[in-house]
Amino acid sequence: MEQKTVIITNELVKKYVSIDDVIEQVENTWKWYGEGKVIMPPKITTDMSSAGVNGWFNSMPSYIGPIDSAGIKVVGGYSDNPKKGLPFIRSNLLLTNPHDGFLRALICGDWISDARTGAQPAVAMKYLAAKSDIITVIGAGRQAFYAVTCISRLHKIKELRICDISKEARERFASYFPDADFDIVPYESNEEACRESDVIITLTTANAVLVEEPWCKPGSLVLTMGSFQEVSDDIARKFDKIYLDHIAQGMHRGQFLPMAERGEITADDFAAELPEIVAGKKPGRQNPEERLMCELVGMGSPDVCIATLAYERVTKAGEAVTTVDMLGE
Ligand SMILES: NC(=O)c1ccc[n+]([C@@H]2O[C@H](COP(=O)([O-])OP(=O)(O)OC[C@H]3O[C@@H](n4cnc5c(N)ncnc54)[C@H](O)[C@@H]3O)[C@@H](O)[C@H]2O)c1
Repeated sequence: MEQKTVIITNELVKKYVSIDDVIEQVENTWKWYGEGKVIMPPKITTDMSSAGVNGWFNSMPSYIGPIDSAGIKVVGGYSDNPKKGLPFIRSNLLLTNPHDGFLRALICGDWISDARTGAQPAVAMKYLAAKSDIITVIGAGRQAFYAVTCISRLHKIKELRICDISKEARERFASYFPDADFDIVPYESNEEACRESDVIITLTTANAVLVEEPWCKPGSLVLTMGSFQEVSDDIARKFDKIYLDHIAQGMHRGQFLPMAERGEITADDFAAELPEIVAGKKPGRQNPEERLMCELVGMGSPDVCIATLAYERVTKAGEAVTTVDMLGE
């Protein structure tokens, strides 16, 4: 019988799990979710701003059938953190035995969350992008670093255009990739960057229209990933197909929330949930000319899957970790 809860730090996670593992687990979890093998209710947000606390956190539970693991990701965004030199996003994970509720592990979820966020556009592009020659990323922050890291492992990029409201952030971005075999070019104008781009990714903390529909060429793919609206409603209205990773979540937050509140968009307007495409149940891109948009709201199940891998590897290796008897017996 399991008796001790294991505490796993961010550094230990990074020692036992690679970026390539994360990319693989994101795709696996999406496939399993599309096959109906993952139980994952929509995430719940606790927004503390009306009580004067500058932050919110999401509770994201899931059970993953193929690996028989259950857990919850608790992830938040804390607006004062950047001023304190801390990351905006912080995450923690609990893993439990799905059959008796025993708390198996408490795991720092910071790297897992950042890496899986970056893996999402890389995997989505496999199914939805016509080309990856020119990619524009708007928002040169932490999640953008992981997105470009993961995309460059799966896709051949010629030019990466980086935009940010902060000149310093966009001009610094190339220095994070000293070995890049593609050009990283800062753009002050979102419009100039987006025109001719094969893929446009928004990953900002803004609640603003950063991309207009006429800037998106035939064959383009727009991926929105920030927590609020980032691109024009006309992209949803005029593109050939729109997708979400999780439709129920996407109706209550992020890019589509304003349209959903005005009754301008419903679940029926989406061609598919991305996991259905990964599971082979619905088609992804069908021709190189169609313009596609997908919001990647973010699911907690990939994090639970990656945390389970970390837990299994750390315990199997016999690492000297802190353990706790939660009953104190
Ligand atoms: N979809 C997901 O799965 C997922 C997961 C984690 C985080 N997020 C979201 O991703 C976003 C980015 O998070 P982060 O950790 O990279 O934050 P960050 O603070 O590290 O970076 C955000 C960047 O956006 C830039 N920005 C803000 N307003 C802008 C504007 N109007 N135009 C251009 N750039 C602007 C900032 O200058 C900053 O460089 C947040 O909204 C976060 O909640 C999404």
